[in-house]
Amino acid sequence: MSIPSDKDRVVIFDTTLRDGEQSPGATMTHVEKLEIAGLLDEMGVDIIEAGFPIASEGDFNAVSEIAKNATNSRICGLARAKTGDIDRCWQAIKHAEKNRIHTFIGTSPLHRAIPNLTMDEMADLIHQSVTHARNLCDNVQWSPMDATRTEWDYLCRVIEIAIKAGASTINIPDTVGYTAPVESTDLIKRLIETVPGADEVIFATHCHNDLGMATANSLAAVAGGARQIECTINGLGERAGNTALEEVVMALKVRNDIMPWSTGIDTQKIMHISRRVAAVSGFAVQFNKAIVGKNAFAHESGIHQDGMLKNAETFEIMRPSDVGLAGTSLPLGKHSGRAALRDKLEQFGFEVGDNQLKDVFVRFKELADRKKEVFDDDIFALMRSGEDAENDHLQIVSMRVICGTGGPAESTVEMEIDGKDVSVTASGDGPVDATFKAIRELHPNTARLQLYQVHAVTEGTDAQATVTVRLEEDGMIATGESANTDTVVASARAYVNALNRLILRREKSGPGTDAREISYKDVT
Ligand code: KIV
Ligand code: ZN
Repeated sequence: MSIPSDKDRVVIFDTTLRDGEQSPGATMTHVEKLEIAGLLDEMGVDIIEAGFPIASEGDFNAVSEIAKNATNSRICGLARAKTGDIDRCWQAIKHAEKNRIHTFIGTSPLHRAIPNLTMDEMADLIHQSVTHARNLCDNVQWSPMDATRTEWDYLCRVIEIAIKAGASTINIPDTVGYTAPVESTDLIKRLIETVPGADEVIFATHCHNDLGMATANSLAAVAGGARQIECTINGLGERAGNTALEEVVMALKVRNDIMPWSTGIDTQKIMHISRRVAAVSGFAVQFNKAIVGKNAFAHESGIHQDGMLKNAETFEIMRPSDVGLAGTSLPLGKHSGRAALRDKLEQFGFEVGDNQLKDVFVRFKELADRKKEVFDDDIFALMRSGEDAENDHLQIVSMRVICGTGGPAESTVEMEIDGKDVSVTASGDGPVDATFKAIRELHPNTARLQLYQVHAVTEGTDAQATVTVRLEEDGMIATGESANTDTVVASARAYVNALNRLILRREKSGPGTDAREISYKDVT
């Protein structure tokens, strides 16, 4: 057996907080970003791309704070090929013990046309920007955005310039998810063989999932010689998303026989972070998503269940515990005590203080009164729906809904708004519509509903429904969540939760500062 060397190690570069968070609607709060960064650090992610510091005051503050708190991971910030971007990025990441400036420019013909630069002018800009970044930080990554649609000769030329200027990682983005596995292997292999100085740097792969090939393309790039994979938790990201961290990491673990490269990821932490990212981004994980989907380890059919009972390996190529799922989960019930609940929360990776436990326990008891058995997913939903309670300006006190086949639904909602009790009855097209109208009457606002999503957390007619509501107002986006055995109650609370978050954001950031002021695609 050969001894693993550095060449067998794949660096995991997570960009959930930058490329992932940049996708419309996935905006996270400052506190949520810090929490996710902490979990990424803990699970062994080598490099965390924490944000795009020039984009907004909020991004800058989040990246600085993440840099201050990092323990093991290297903290990276994104910057366009502009002195101001690079300086701002450095100001945010300089607090980290290990840091990196990631600077980029679009090099394909379509992207060169945006700033209207000639090939020579862009080459000069690349030289200047990487040199400037390197003068500030001893670890610089450079990316030719849309590399997979850039002319071969020009791609080689600009990569050589970036290496000479001091970049130690060259990232090859497949920005629009256009490449395919054979091409991905070949591209990296040929670049390493052709570009002078290529053997002195690490090549990275950054794939988008537009054709559903991001994971395959990333692994194919590693086969070609790339040693850094850029990815996000749950594959979060613009359009069809980025390469999913959990997929590449588990593929390398399970098929190490044919892909003999390792990562430093503690795979047992995957499930918890996946659920947290889904909760804070408001992007639910599809049920049949590889590794982290609700059904990824579920065996429904009789033949499968029979095989599983005799030998789990008949239908499982990895164990649920490998990704942090407790194998058999005994449901809690109304007789379960505080210790059992704490134990369960700890198993899932939630660290709760005494006060938080008290609050969760009250809600757990309420739920257990309504539901015979409280399953693991119910507990997760409970943790998700209790957030932000202390800061709430708006609270639902009570509600009563009349609906049926005989006419429009009617909803009477009583709320406490900044300490004052108010109530109204509104009618609408179904109970949820009537309830939202009542809330809007009590708290007039111009927030636009971008997303309304309902999921049954567990099976049965007494299952909890988790409702996600995403609102947009003046460029600010906020997501609210709630879970309840009554779908209309969960909907009302999720709506109010999102409104509270919008109010909070406006208060914290002042006008205009939370909305992203510039986009990373604005490269002129
Ligand atoms: O997809 C892309 O090209 C990017 C770059 C900024 C690296 O995210
Ligand atoms: Zn990207």
